[in-house]
Amino acid sequence: MNLTSRQYLTTPIYYASGSPHLGHAYTTFVADCYKRYYQACGYEVLLTSGTDEHGQKIERTSAKNNESTESFIQKRSDEFSRLWIDLGIELDAFQRTSSPEHKSLVVEFWKRLQQKGDIYKGHYEGLYCVECEQYFTEGDQCPVHRKPLEHYSEESYFFRLSAYQQKLIDHIEKHPDFIVPSTRRNEVLSFLKSSGLHDLSISRTSTRWGIQVPDDSRHVIYVWIDALAAYLSALGPLDGKEIEEYWPNTTHFIGKDILIFHAVYWPALLWSAGLDLPRQLVVNGWLTVEGRKISKSDPETIIDPVSLTEITGCDGLKYYFLKAVKLGQDLDFRKDHLIELLNADLANNFGNLFSRFIKLFIKHFPDGIDLDTQILSTANQHILTAVSAKRAAFIRALEKYELSIAARIFIDTAALLNASFQQREPWKIANREELAEYLWTVHQCLETLTLLGYCFIPGIIENARGGLNLGNPPVFKEPLGDVNGSAAKKSGVKVRGIESLFPRL
Ligand code: MSP
Repeated sequence: MNLTSRQYLTTPIYYASGSPHLGHAYTTFVADCYKRYYQACGYEVLLTSGTDEHGQKIERTSAKNNESTESFIQKRSDEFSRLWIDLGIELDAFQRTSSPEHKSLVVEFWKRLQQKGDIYKGHYEGLYCVECEQYFTEGDQCPVHRKPLEHYSEESYFFRLSAYQQKLIDHIEKHPDFIVPSTRRNEVLSFLKSSGLHDLSISRTSTRWGIQVPDDSRHVIYVWIDALAAYLSALGPLDGKEIEEYWPNTTHFIGKDILIFHAVYWPALLWSAGLDLPRQLVVNGWLTVEGRKISKSDPETIIDPVSLTEITGCDGLKYYFLKAVKLGQDLDFRKDHLIELLNADLANNFGNLFSRFIKLFIKHFPDGIDLDTQILSTANQHILTAVSAKRAAFIRALEKYELSIAARIFIDTAALLNASFQQREPWKIANREELAEYLWTVHQCLETLTLLGYCFIPGIIENARGGLNLGNPPVFKEPLGDVNGSAAKKSGVKVRGIESLFPRL
């Protein structure tokens, strides 16, 4: 990755047509993990989310609920913003598409497309899925929602998407990391190469619930254009400083069902508006229950993430999804697997390591260890080198969005230290200097371990670092390979008694 000092990370803006569920939380967990990673690396990071509040789907759902659309979306939007607080996710902005600043940006965005000569008026006739807010050219049933498509025939403004086909192919081919994982990139490329792109219908007369097309009050702007532009409006006005500074370093975290909107429509729209493209699209798969996508249109699949955190804690839940899913693939959710994995990794392995280390340390060195020697024994150097190699591998995995591998490296590092304890049996070391040097070495390794764990389990890591008498949050100061056995850098270490880091579930 080629990064400057700023990072802009986005989650999709979630439809305010229903209450949040576990599927929504998943994409946001991934984005939160990267926010913490970049912060620990010293970047200035903004993470935004929000709610998508216009369009026919919202209008219909609120009517079905016998509620005014305004009060309906207010409640749903509040549920989403509350959810992120309850899940321990720190957003820097939460954009609602009904907000005045968003509406004026969308109008400005539309005018730019118009000035470029990319908008014309025509007529659309086709099959529409209101749930997806999308026309389909094939079949009579929506492939995502498995509901019959509705026949629409309406006057519409069009965007000259077809003019951008080759430019899109060139961009994706020249930037292999633009869409990750590569399976999704290949999917977009074959979509672009297999058929001629049609121009995109970008206004609707079938709903009033949206942002009016400038100078044509019969039309509202297509909800997907409105929604995508929220990534910009969350930063501020189009000609503002934040867009200039952050926009070129944008990573959109999205689910696979909204890939074409982000990988085809969005880049073309941005080019037309004279803006840069985001640096990257990171595409996750779906969470399913007994093979069915968790979705509000299938109420039996709905799982409330907050009720799960009552068992696992916020960190536990986040850790589970980041570790259990290979990014891009689907995961069939099973509570017994969740509990099994958390007990094995966080309670038995990571948590146990800290409690036995801290107990032993306090017992023998309640005032801390001040190491005299500058040179460590070969055995201790070996541990440091092994942990250092883990750190390097961890960073490589994270940079490639191999989150489950990164989490495995984190927990393998804890296992490695537990194994070292088993092998060295420090409670049997009679020589005080030797014991001090070993515990000092493990302390260094645990500091590294907290760095690796931070983006997955930040709250637990804060406590763990408290136990190691280290500051929070952690910082990746130097490349990890630097832990090379020199005791000169930091000779004094101390620990403090802490509660169990992750009690067995
Ligand atoms: N409002 C649009 C996004 C506009 S972004 C400019 C939308 N909203 S959504 O609420 O339907 O979905 C938002 C995100 O949640 C998508 O990335 C979608 O993939 C994700 N998920 C919704 N259900 C999901 C699962 N069951 N599993 C994983 N992610 C899922 O689309």
